[in-house]
Amino acid sequence: EKGGYDSFMLKEIYEQPQAVRDTMGARIDQEKKRIVLPELKMSDTELAAYDRIYIVACGTSMHAGLVGKDVIEKWTRVPVEVAVASEFRYRDPIYTDNTLMIVISQSGETADTLAALREAKKSNVKVLAITNVVGSSVAREADEVLFTWAGPEVAVASTKAYTSQVVTLYLFALYLAEVKGTLPADEIANVVEHLQAIPGKIASMLEESEASRMRDFAASIKEVGSVFFIGRSLDYAVSLEGSLKLKEISYIHSEAYPAGELKHGTLALIEDNVPVIALATQPDIFEKMVSNIVEVKARGGRILGFATEGDTELAKAVDEVIYMPSTLPMLTPILTVIPLQLLAYYASVARGLDVDKPRNLAKSVTVE
Ligand code: F6R
Repeated sequence: EKGGYDSFMLKEIYEQPQAVRDTMGARIDQEKKRIVLPELKMSDTELAAYDRIYIVACGTSMHAGLVGKDVIEKWTRVPVEVAVASEFRYRDPIYTDNTLMIVISQSGETADTLAALREAKKSNVKVLAITNVVGSSVAREADEVLFTWAGPEVAVASTKAYTSQVVTLYLFALYLAEVKGTLPADEIANVVEHLQAIPGKIASMLEESEASRMRDFAASIKEVGSVFFIGRSLDYAVSLEGSLKLKEISYIHSEAYPAGELKHGTLALIEDNVPVIALATQPDIFEKMVSNIVEVKARGGRILGFATEGDTELAKAVDEVIYMPSTLPMLTPILTVIPLQLLAYYASVARGLDVDKPRNLAKSVTVE
C-alpha cells in the first residue's frame, strides 16, 4: 500500500504533482484561462460583496492559510486575518455583515477548527471550508466547500494536503479577483498558465539530483541542537511550514523567523556552524533578505539558501544554494516547500525515527 516507498510520507511527497493537478482539474477553463468553481452555491454577486476574510485552521493547514492571506490580499485587496483555531474559538471576533470565514482542514475533523466553524455559524457568518475529506464534519457543516483532491493522506506529517490547500487558495483568490474585478482577465490568464506548469515544476524538485542534496544536508544536521529558518513575506510563511515539518518528524529543534526580526533577539543564538535555511525567492524583498543573510554569515552561521533559477547573487552570500524553477513569485511557495519536506523526511530517516508516526502526535486531532 506504500506503493514501493518505504513510508507513506515519502509516497505522499511524490504524489504531489498529481495531487496538485487533480485539485486544479476541472476548475480551470482551458480555453478562457480562467477559474471556474461550480461547486460554490453562493452567487458571484454575493461572493463579490465580502470585504473581510478570516482564515482559521491549525498547524500545517494554518500555514497554507498564511500563503492564502498574501495572495488573496494581493489579488483582491480584501483584508485577510489568519488565526489559529484554538485561539480563534475563544476570542470575540469582530464580524461585519460582509465577513467570510474560510476554514482549512485536511481531515475535516480537527476539534478546534470545527468549533471555530460552529462559532462563526452561530453569528450568521458564512463559512467556506477547504478540506480533503468528503463527508467529514467540516465538509458537512460548512456553508460552502472546496475539496482538495489530494487523495487519502496517511502519514501524520502533512505534505500533499498542504500543497493542495495552497493551490485551492490560489484558485479561490483568482476567482474572487475576477468577480470583484480586481485583476484584469489577461493577468488572471497569465497566473493560470503559470499554475498549469506547477505540477511539472514540483516533479523537477523531486528528481533524484535535487532530493540527494536534501539528503546530504539532512545528514549534516542530524546531530545539531537547533536549526533556523528565515524568510520574508511568502518565504516566511513557507519557513514556518519547513520548521514545523522538521520538528515534527526529526525532533530537531528549529524555529522560523521573519528575517528582519533576527536583530531583535534571535541573532544572539547564531554562532559558528549553526544551520540556517534562508529562503530568498521573493524579488521585491530580495536585497533586504541578502543583507539579513550577510548578518547571519558574519556570526558564523552555516547557510543553505533557496533562490530562484537564474539568480547569481545568493550564491555569493551563502554556503550552498538550492534553485527553484522560475514561476511567478506568488506561486513559488508551492515549490519551495518541496525540498523542505524532503529535508524533514531525510533528517527523520537519518536519525532512525518512525517517519510516518512521530511520537506524541495523532493524524487527526479530534479532541481539544
Ligand atoms: C503537521 C500536521 C498538522 C495538521 C493539523 C491540522 O504536519 O499535519 O499540523 O496540519 O493538525 O489538521 P487538519 O488539517 O486535519 O485540520
